[in-house]
Amino acid sequence: MKTTHRATFGGRLSAVLVTAGSAVGLGNIWRFPYVAGENGGAAFLLIYILSVLIMGVPIMLAEFAIGRNTRSNAVGAFRKLSPRWTILGYNSVVAPLLIMGFYLVVSGWTMEYMIHSITGDFTHVHTADEYAALFSAFTQNPWRPALYTVIFTLLTHGVIALGVQKGIERSSRIMMPLLLVILVVLAIHSMLLPNGWEGVRFLFTPDFSKVTASTFLTALGQAFFSLSIGLGCLVTYASYFKEDTNITHTALQVASIDTLVAVLAGIVIFPAVFSVGIEPTAGPSLVFVTLPAIFNTLPLSMVWSTIFFLLLVIAALTSTISLHEVLTAYVHEEWHLSRRTSAWIVTAACILLGIAASLSLGAWKWLQIGGISFFDLLDFVTANILLPAAGFFVCIFVGWVLDRRFMPQELTNKGTIPLRLWPLLRLLLRWVCPLLMLLIFMDNIGII
Ligand code: TRP
Repeated sequence: MKTTHRATFGGRLSAVLVTAGSAVGLGNIWRFPYVAGENGGAAFLLIYILSVLIMGVPIMLAEFAIGRNTRSNAVGAFRKLSPRWTILGYNSVVAPLLIMGFYLVVSGWTMEYMIHSITGDFTHVHTADEYAALFSAFTQNPWRPALYTVIFTLLTHGVIALGVQKGIERSSRIMMPLLLVILVVLAIHSMLLPNGWEGVRFLFTPDFSKVTASTFLTALGQAFFSLSIGLGCLVTYASYFKEDTNITHTALQVASIDTLVAVLAGIVIFPAVFSVGIEPTAGPSLVFVTLPAIFNTLPLSMVWSTIFFLLLVIAALTSTISLHEVLTAYVHEEWHLSRRTSAWIVTAACILLGIAASLSLGAWKWLQIGGISFFDLLDFVTANILLPAAGFFVCIFVGWVLDRRFMPQELTNKGTIPLRLWPLLRLLLRWVCPLLMLLIFMDNIGII
């Protein structure tokens, strides 16, 4: 393939912000709080943080090394390093497409809710039951959620079409700081609510009685999903890093920002939940039902719910951009099409999948397999199978297949910065991560 000029991200900060943009998403703000709520709060948080440190950061580093070394899309990257492992690259582009299928739908909901908040439609709805009815009527509506899915996809397309620097980099440099500011404001607001400290205590006082074997898999799955591990995003973004980007620092910073955002999202949500005396275990509808109902009881409810859903829209958008880019870079470089055409092909595929997933919850109820809707199926297959499998094989690939000098070379930028903690990292990548993953997996399917 002819090597055209490949874009790189500008400064050191850009690499961190753009990658954090991919990592921070609905996974942190929508999923983390309800999963933590269902799994014992603080105890879950502890296991989650351990998963991030022991498995998340090492695998993230491995993916950074692969991307920056090869300067290719996910498929090209694995092929360049070892043609036999190209299949791992294919998993890294098929899975993001499947993730997009349901992720864009939920992103669409956040946008619809933001607009409802702005127009003041929620002022007529009061109790949590009414919100629940509204939510199910909305998600099952024959066309509105599908329409918002399409709008959100086009918004993502718009950023991708502007290019790596002018689109992805510039938008992250604006959206990520804005996201952090909004989150801090909302967190302070929540803590000041009557009874708010109950929620903070829930998040920080561990209750190990709720911890079971499956908590570990849930925490690991959540950590992988939240850090965007395994599915090409980190490889693709790292292929735009500069030669002198310190990937260790970048990985640690991204993991810290991502965890901080998840914790802050918990601080926004749990105090609010406790202040009105609702159980924190409401599940996926926590932010679409429980939270708007709570906002409604507060002064200036319109303002709070508008900025909360704006927060979700921003978080979701920086993540859909990264998923879209994995696919666009792949089509562009592997099928030898222009970036513009590639982006449109990806957008069209996302729209088709997104509409199918959205309608499978309502108008197209027949679209289910084994009693599970297409929407839930996409979520299940990617989060519980493709994602952990990808993480596992990345460890095997980097730990056992690649030349042992590969990682040290990338970690030290070819010997220009010191190599720190390498024996530990090598141990984690070769033994600890794969074995822990196997154990957790076998435990969950009941083998041990
Ligand atoms: N990390 C994002 C979130 O928390 C979602 C995401 C983006 C993702 N790219 C990914 C998940 C790649 C897994 C793999 O919402």
